[in-house]
Amino acid sequence: MQNTLDMLEVIIENYRRDEGNIISLLQDVQEHFGYVPREAMVYLSESLGIPQSKFFGVATFYSQFHLKPRGENIITACCGTACHVKGSERLINSLLRGLHIPSGEDTSEDKKFTVEKVNCVGACSIAPVVIINKEIHGKMTADRLMKEIKKLKRS
Ligand code: FES
Repeated sequence: MQNTLDMLEVIIENYRRDEGNIISLLQDVQEHFGYVPREAMVYLSESLGIPQSKFFGVATFYSQFHLKPRGENIITACCGTACHVKGSERLINSLLRGLHIPSGEDTSEDKKFTVEKVNCVGACSIAPVVIINKEIHGKMTADRLMKEIKKLKRS
Protein backbone atom coordinates (compact mmCIF):
# COMPACT_ATOMS: atom_id res chain seq x y z
CA MET A 1 0.00 0.00 0.00
CA GLN A 2 2.89 2.38 0.77
CA ASN A 3 4.16 2.05 -2.82
CA THR A 4 0.70 2.98 -4.05
CA LEU A 5 0.52 6.05 -1.81
CA ASP A 6 4.03 7.09 -2.83
CA MET A 7 3.10 6.75 -6.50
CA LEU A 8 -0.05 8.82 -5.99
CA GLU A 9 1.99 11.50 -4.22
CA VAL A 10 4.38 11.65 -7.20
CA ILE A 11 1.42 12.00 -9.57
CA ILE A 12 -0.19 14.66 -7.37
CA GLU A 13 3.05 16.63 -7.15
CA ASN A 14 3.14 16.82 -10.94
CA TYR A 15 -0.28 18.49 -10.94
CA ARG A 16 -0.35 20.44 -7.69
CA ARG A 17 0.12 23.70 -9.54
CA ASP A 18 -2.39 22.82 -12.28
CA GLU A 19 -5.60 21.71 -10.60
CA GLY A 20 -7.65 22.08 -13.74
CA ASN A 21 -5.93 19.27 -15.54
CA ILE A 22 -8.03 16.39 -14.28
CA ILE A 23 -7.88 14.50 -17.57
CA SER A 24 -4.08 14.35 -17.55
CA LEU A 25 -4.13 13.43 -13.89
CA LEU A 26 -6.51 10.53 -14.52
CA GLN A 27 -4.45 9.45 -17.54
CA ASP A 28 -1.39 9.18 -15.32
CA VAL A 29 -3.33 7.19 -12.74
CA GLN A 30 -4.62 4.82 -15.43
CA GLU A 31 -1.15 4.52 -16.95
CA HIS A 32 0.21 3.37 -13.62
CA PHE A 33 -2.64 1.15 -12.38
CA GLY A 34 -4.09 -0.03 -15.68
CA TYR A 35 -7.42 1.51 -14.71
CA VAL A 36 -8.72 4.33 -12.52
CA PRO A 37 -9.42 2.93 -9.05
CA ARG A 38 -12.23 4.63 -7.13
CA GLU A 39 -9.93 4.94 -4.11
CA ALA A 40 -7.39 6.84 -6.22
CA MET A 41 -10.02 9.40 -7.24
CA VAL A 42 -11.08 9.86 -3.61
CA TYR A 43 -7.46 10.24 -2.53
CA LEU A 44 -6.68 12.74 -5.28
CA SER A 45 -9.83 14.68 -4.53
CA GLU A 46 -8.94 15.04 -0.87
CA SER A 47 -5.29 15.79 -1.56
CA LEU A 48 -5.96 18.46 -4.17
CA GLY A 49 -9.14 19.88 -2.65
CA ILE A 50 -11.04 19.22 -5.87
CA PRO A 51 -14.56 17.75 -5.46
CA GLN A 52 -14.78 13.99 -6.06
CA SER A 53 -17.66 14.65 -8.45
CA LYS A 54 -15.25 16.35 -10.86
CA PHE A 55 -13.02 13.29 -10.98
CA PHE A 56 -15.95 10.87 -11.32
CA GLY A 57 -17.59 13.11 -13.92
CA VAL A 58 -14.52 13.15 -16.14
CA ALA A 59 -13.70 9.46 -15.61
CA THR A 60 -17.20 8.36 -16.55
CA PHE A 61 -17.62 10.80 -19.45
CA TYR A 62 -14.55 9.79 -21.47
CA SER A 63 -14.47 6.25 -22.83
CA GLN A 64 -10.67 6.22 -22.57
CA PHE A 65 -10.99 5.76 -18.81
CA HIS A 66 -11.62 2.36 -17.30
CA LEU A 67 -13.07 2.13 -13.84
CA LYS A 68 -12.53 -1.60 -13.40
CA PRO A 69 -9.33 -3.66 -13.67
CA ARG A 70 -8.78 -4.89 -17.22
CA GLY A 71 -7.32 -8.10 -18.54
CA GLU A 72 -3.70 -8.60 -19.58
CA ASN A 73 -4.88 -8.86 -23.19
CA ILE A 74 -7.34 -6.41 -24.68
CA ILE A 75 -9.49 -7.71 -27.53
CA THR A 76 -11.36 -4.87 -29.18
CA ALA A 77 -14.10 -5.78 -31.62
CA CYS A 78 -15.36 -3.17 -34.03
CA CYS A 79 -19.12 -2.95 -34.05
CA GLY A 80 -19.51 -0.21 -36.65
CA THR A 81 -21.97 -0.68 -39.48
CA ALA A 82 -19.64 -2.45 -41.92
CA CYS A 83 -18.33 -4.82 -39.26
CA HIS A 84 -21.83 -5.42 -37.94
CA VAL A 85 -23.01 -6.39 -41.43
CA LYS A 86 -20.04 -8.77 -41.70
CA GLY A 87 -20.93 -10.55 -38.46
CA SER A 88 -19.07 -8.77 -35.66
CA GLU A 89 -21.81 -9.60 -33.16
CA ARG A 90 -21.42 -13.34 -33.83
CA LEU A 91 -17.65 -12.99 -33.43
CA ILE A 92 -18.02 -11.26 -30.09
CA ASN A 93 -20.53 -13.77 -28.80
CA SER A 94 -18.32 -16.73 -29.74
CA LEU A 95 -15.33 -14.98 -28.17
CA LEU A 96 -17.18 -14.34 -24.90
CA ARG A 97 -18.32 -17.97 -24.82
CA GLY A 98 -14.81 -19.22 -25.64
CA LEU A 99 -13.34 -17.16 -22.82
CA HIS A 100 -16.14 -18.09 -20.39
CA ILE A 101 -16.93 -14.43 -19.79
CA PRO A 102 -20.43 -14.22 -18.30
CA SER A 103 -23.12 -12.00 -19.77
CA GLY A 104 -22.76 -8.41 -18.66
CA GLU A 105 -19.03 -8.80 -17.93
CA ASP A 106 -16.11 -7.95 -20.18
CA THR A 107 -13.13 -9.53 -18.43
CA SER A 108 -12.30 -13.19 -17.93
CA GLU A 109 -12.19 -14.44 -14.37
CA ASP A 110 -8.44 -15.07 -14.55
CA LYS A 111 -8.00 -11.44 -15.71
CA LYS A 112 -6.19 -12.64 -18.84
CA PHE A 113 -8.64 -11.13 -21.35
CA THR A 114 -10.89 -8.13 -21.66
CA VAL A 115 -13.29 -7.91 -24.59
CA GLU A 116 -14.37 -4.43 -25.65
CA LYS A 117 -16.61 -3.11 -28.38
CA VAL A 118 -15.90 0.08 -30.31
CA ASN A 119 -17.49 1.95 -33.16
CA CYS A 120 -15.87 2.15 -36.58
CA VAL A 121 -12.09 2.08 -36.39
CA GLY A 122 -11.75 3.31 -39.97
CA ALA A 123 -10.82 0.02 -41.62
CA CYS A 124 -14.21 -0.88 -43.07
CA SER A 125 -12.72 -2.42 -46.22
CA ILE A 126 -11.35 -5.29 -44.15
CA ALA A 127 -14.44 -5.78 -41.95
CA PRO A 128 -14.99 -7.42 -39.61
CA VAL A 129 -12.11 -5.93 -37.69
CA VAL A 130 -10.76 -7.09 -34.35
CA ILE A 131 -7.87 -5.38 -32.59
CA ILE A 132 -5.82 -7.68 -30.43
CA ASN A 133 -3.47 -5.85 -28.11
CA LYS A 134 -3.38 -2.86 -30.48
CA GLU A 135 -2.72 -5.01 -33.58
CA ILE A 136 -5.42 -4.78 -36.25
CA HIS A 137 -6.76 -8.03 -37.71
CA GLY A 138 -9.10 -7.73 -40.68
CA LYS A 139 -11.59 -10.12 -42.25
CA MET A 140 -11.68 -11.91 -38.93
CA THR A 141 -13.45 -15.23 -38.49
CA ALA A 142 -14.44 -17.01 -35.29
CA ASP A 143 -11.89 -19.78 -35.99
CA ARG A 144 -9.03 -17.36 -36.62
CA LEU A 145 -9.96 -15.37 -33.55
CA MET A 146 -9.89 -18.43 -31.32
CA LYS A 147 -6.50 -19.42 -32.79
CA GLU A 148 -5.18 -15.98 -31.83
CA ILE A 149 -6.62 -16.40 -28.34
CA LYS A 150 -4.97 -19.81 -27.98
CA LYS A 151 -1.63 -18.26 -28.97
CA LEU A 152 -2.06 -15.60 -26.29
CA LYS A 153 -3.00 -18.20 -23.70
CA ARG A 154 0.21 -20.11 -24.44
CA SER A 155 2.44 -17.02 -24.29
S1 FES B 1 -17.23 -0.46 -39.22
FE1 FES B 1 -15.59 -1.65 -38.49
S2 FES B 1 -13.88 -0.66 -39.35
FE2 FES B 1 -15.52 0.57 -40.00
